[in-house]
Amino acid sequence: MAGSRARGAGGEGRRGPFDPRLLHYAAATRRYLGLSVVLGTIATSLLVVQAWILASVLAGVIAGHESLHTCAPRLGFLAAAICLRGLVAYLAERSAHGASAEAKSQLRVAVVDHLVAPGCGADVDAAKVALGATVGLDALDGYFARYLPQVFLAVAAPSAVVVAICGIDWLSGIIVAVTVPLIPLFMILVGLRTGELIGARQGRLDALGRQFLDAVVALPTLKVFGRAQVQARAMQQAGDQYRSATMDTLRLAFLSSLVLELLATVSVALVAVAIGLRLLAGALTLDAAFFVLLLAPEAYVPLRNLGASYHASADGVAAADRLFEILEQPLAEPRGTSGARVASVGRLEVVDLSVQRGAGAAKVLDRVNLSVDPGEVLAITGCSGVGKTTLLSCLLSMTEPTSGVVLVDGVPLSVLDRSWWFEQVAWVPQRPHLFAGTIADNVALGRQGASWGAITQAIDDAGLTSVVESLPDGPWTVIGETGVGLSVGERQRVALARAFLRDAPLLLLDEPTAALDGATEAVVLAAIGRLVERRTTVMVAHRPSLVRLATRVVELEPASTVAR
Ligand SMILES: Nc1ncnc2c1ncn2[C@@H]1O[C@H](COP(=O)(O)OP(=O)(O)OP(=O)(O)O)[C@@H](O)[C@H]1O
Ligand SMILES: [Mg+2]
Repeated sequence: MAGSRARGAGGEGRRGPFDPRLLHYAAATRRYLGLSVVLGTIATSLLVVQAWILASVLAGVIAGHESLHTCAPRLGFLAAAICLRGLVAYLAERSAHGASAEAKSQLRVAVVDHLVAPGCGADVDAAKVALGATVGLDALDGYFARYLPQVFLAVAAPSAVVVAICGIDWLSGIIVAVTVPLIPLFMILVGLRTGELIGARQGRLDALGRQFLDAVVALPTLKVFGRAQVQARAMQQAGDQYRSATMDTLRLAFLSSLVLELLATVSVALVAVAIGLRLLAGALTLDAAFFVLLLAPEAYVPLRNLGASYHASADGVAAADRLFEILEQPLAEPRGTSGARVASVGRLEVVDLSVQRGAGAAKVLDRVNLSVDPGEVLAITGCSGVGKTTLLSCLLSMTEPTSGVVLVDGVPLSVLDRSWWFEQVAWVPQRPHLFAGTIADNVALGRQGASWGAITQAIDDAGLTSVVESLPDGPWTVIGETGVGLSVGERQRVALARAFLRDAPLLLLDEPTAALDGATEAVVLAAIGRLVERRTTVMVAHRPSLVRLATRVVELEPASTVAR
């Protein structure tokens, strides 16, 4: 599989000068490649024309049988050719940046689409994705603007130059034809080593990113346990390793540029010596000599540029490679896309439900059986780690049971349309996640297009009004990454407010009052009491005050369930 070949070091996945997966995942590349071929052909033709005009003018003027006046029309053409080459270079640069921006955006969208696809597993390396899809991918600019246009030119220009020179002087043509392939040969050798170095460098960058993410998230814990300095030293070490890997790559880049330059210079010198000797012997005309001398270096320029831009673009290609790795991970068979629904949520049944997280691991849930009638308020209790949250997750259809089934009104949950099912459920998780945005935005997540009145009502129902009023911008206060933080209890109430706003027939609550003080709990309990009145509810509950709201209690035990 292409994916397994690409796995491991970023550079290993690189195949040849062009990765066809780029065409597949970033359609913008196709149009750009077509345009590059057209512009490259024009640029190469202009190059030959320019050398021919310049050679004839120089030879005429130096030999003394032409004056500036007689050369004027050709000089005009020369100026036009130079201007046209400038225009072609401008168009190439412009299209390269446009295509690069478009391809990057297409790759990012493809990765996000893949990650949110129903069959995508949850075990994603966050640091790797974040780095690869942001700054990593930005390095593709060099690949598009410098490397890709040179790939075509590196084939077209030397061929055109060799043909043009052979038409005038076959010996020089042969020297160029023999020496030009030495450059790609050397580049392939360098490329193999560069791939390894870039792969190692990306690995170091990943490690650094992961460590940084960990340190930021766990800073208070690290401080309290006196490990902040150790973590800082570990990060410094990772930074040093990254720096040394970067220096290795740069060293190779400079060295290979030097050798390529040397190869090209020696080759042109060989052509020049051969021309000089035949010019002295009168075997070659002056204008032919000028033409060959002006054109010969141009056979090596695109190849040298290709070599130089290879290093500039390798980072971007390695980042794209790693995104391809993610994109090539097979998706599981998508569940719940059949559009199947039931008329109403009705009776919920859990039949012989077992969950095992990973082969060889102990079962989290072992043949659990329970049922919830419409309108019933079921409280699930049990010791910590017994699998209460896992059971709710199965009901939510976020966790796939190892065996057994959840029936909704007699229909297996696994065949029901997943999006429809999510619409039927209001869920308050044990650790609610708040997004960077205002409090109102976070509550509004509960129902798309909810009115302002409904949002403030939900905030009020969840006992959040006093919290919101104490904040400088009220419900428009920005929370999350950039704004103020909320306490655990306040976060839980934001999640409750979402559930109030959702107004769904089935309520799944995971210890919604666990982090509340007595007074707030009373407010929230009253609100939950109102909320559960018309709905089927399954709630994980520890506190007697919450359990009292239930019409039935089920205690989850490690091996079986016992109703009381
Ligand atoms: N993502 C996960 N990967 C692997 N194991 C998990 C995962 N989530 C939970 N577990 C394991 O499953 C078991 C049940 O976890 P669960 O969160 O369902 O317990 P719980 O009854 O809700 O506990 P608590 O009352 O502490 O919230 C635990 O032993 C836990 O280690
Ligand atoms: Mg739990």
